[in-house]
Amino acid sequence: MNKPHAVAPEFPLDPLAEDPAVLPASRPAPVEAQRPTPVLAPAIPEYLSRVYTWAYLTPAYSRFLDTSLVVSAILWGNMNRLMRAGFSEFEPGQTVLQPACVYGTFSQKLAEVLGPEGTLHVTDVATNQIESCRKKLAGHPTARVGLADAAEPRDRQYDGVCCFFLLHEVPEDYKHRIVKSLLDATRPGGKTVFVDYHGPHWAHPLRPIMILVWRLLEPFALALSEHEIASYAPPALAKQFTWRKSTFFGGLYQKVVATRLSPGS
Ligand SMILES: C[S@@+](CC[C@H](N)C(=O)[O-])C[C@H]1O[C@@H](n2cnc3c(N)ncnc32)[C@H](O)[C@@H]1O
Repeated sequence: MNKPHAVAPEFPLDPLAEDPAVLPASRPAPVEAQRPTPVLAPAIPEYLSRVYTWAYLTPAYSRFLDTSLVVSAILWGNMNRLMRAGFSEFEPGQTVLQPACVYGTFSQKLAEVLGPEGTLHVTDVATNQIESCRKKLAGHPTARVGLADAAEPRDRQYDGVCCFFLLHEVPEDYKHRIVKSLLDATRPGGKTVFVDYHGPHWAHPLRPIMILVWRLLEPFALALSEHEIASYAPPALAKQFTWRKSTFFGGLYQKVVATRLSPGS
């Protein structure tokens, strides 16, 4: 397994800390905070460099893929519908965690939903994705962006968590760890929202194409056809949530909303 490595960041690494160096994406760090202090960055997971270097770790390809048009084409024209479905679970003024970057204008739109009183924290394990997301969120003074592995525990709880098309890209053990970490990071009464692939209806005309794409390019995606997202949560933790699932586009996509029960409810 790759080891965490020391980096001299040009951006805040820990978006969760209440440190003066952790600034809104739009504001330059003060001179004191800009002094390059070596910080442990999370290791790039083995599956990411083995399967997805071309998509996420190669800046030239990332620049091509990072447009709303390309993302919408990859999702067969469903990007806006799926974003709206996810965002409809959150409200202005909330503090929401987005545990992995998404190409296109996803983060800006989510920040707009949360409004000037709300806060969006975006994390990702890849430095180039974080740099690009910081630029995108420069116009959102309350947004924070930083490096973190979605599978690692967080040291705080959020009003909401929005996990968009991350689970299908990670192996099974990571699915378990990510679901646990994100549920743990949700406060009582808050929602963890997963939007991702699902098993399309057997008669779906795109089913053979998607199965081929998954076999060739996205080897961890087929599992979401076979397993409920709730089944990746430790049973005792899953019981602390109510679970609601809806499917879209003939079952090819799903939204799962886990709402954390408040004490005494
Ligand atoms: C959210 S997923 C895919 C989203 C969608 N395909 C899109 O349009 O971008 C892609 C991101 O997940 C990140 N990622 C993968 N594994 C991760 C992990 N364990 N923790 C945090 N980020 C991760 C990648 O670096 C990449 O930026």
